[in-house]
Amino acid sequence: MKLIAPSILSADGGKLAEEIVAVEKAGADWIHVDVMDGQFVPNITMGPAIIAALRKTTKLPFDVHLMINNPDNFIEAFADAGADYITVHIEASHHLHRTVELIKKLGKKAGVSLNPATPLHSIEEILPGINLLLIMSVNPGFGGQKFIPGALPKIQRASEMIAKLPQKPLLEVDGGVNLQNIASIARAGADVLVAGAAVFGATDYAQTVAALKASANISGK
Ligand code: DX5
Ligand code: ZN
Repeated sequence: MKLIAPSILSADGGKLAEEIVAVEKAGADWIHVDVMDGQFVPNITMGPAIIAALRKTTKLPFDVHLMINNPDNFIEAFADAGADYITVHIEASHHLHRTVELIKKLGKKAGVSLNPATPLHSIEEILPGINLLLIMSVNPGFGGQKFIPGALPKIQRASEMIAKLPQKPLLEVDGGVNLQNIASIARAGADVLVAGAAVFGATDYAQTVAALKASANISGK
């Protein structure tokens, strides 16, 4: 079964707790939390204190996507805040292996993310040791952007790389996922589909999450 992870970046910021409860009720599998520092990406969002407060609203896994430079400085704070998956960007981490080991040592699932222009071969060495590979299908920083078509063959190739491993990380896709393209993204091999604007921009969350899930699972993979 493919998993749907609504990104609260596109939720109503004035009522984040209610929005999380609403998407949980609507059938979401994970809550995707975008952390931005205004350095690695041209936007600023939330830090560990807000995440710790929101953690109390749901039992769903918190999928924390760190778009911050020098993530090592904050891994422990996000682990303490209640993150389940902590994903760092390969472009923002100088010693990625150390970062991944730190996340795992703290008892959390370790994810690594790639920007659209970062080649897939750059994660070849780290892939066998991580729990999640996040392929960005937009340039990170904002919700509601258009899916970059070149991401599709990249997802396919990532899925083929993962298939060869004894311990397979989940393959997650983030950026511009919607009702029109989710089936092809899932068919290319994505296990976890992040959807921000597609969910929070809809009037009926339950109907939208159900439709996304149904399309994602058509591939039967
Ligand atoms: C982009 C974020 C995404 C974004 C997804 O920097 O990492 O998680 O919120 O939103 P949509 O689905 O609207 O592209
Ligand atoms: Zn994200």
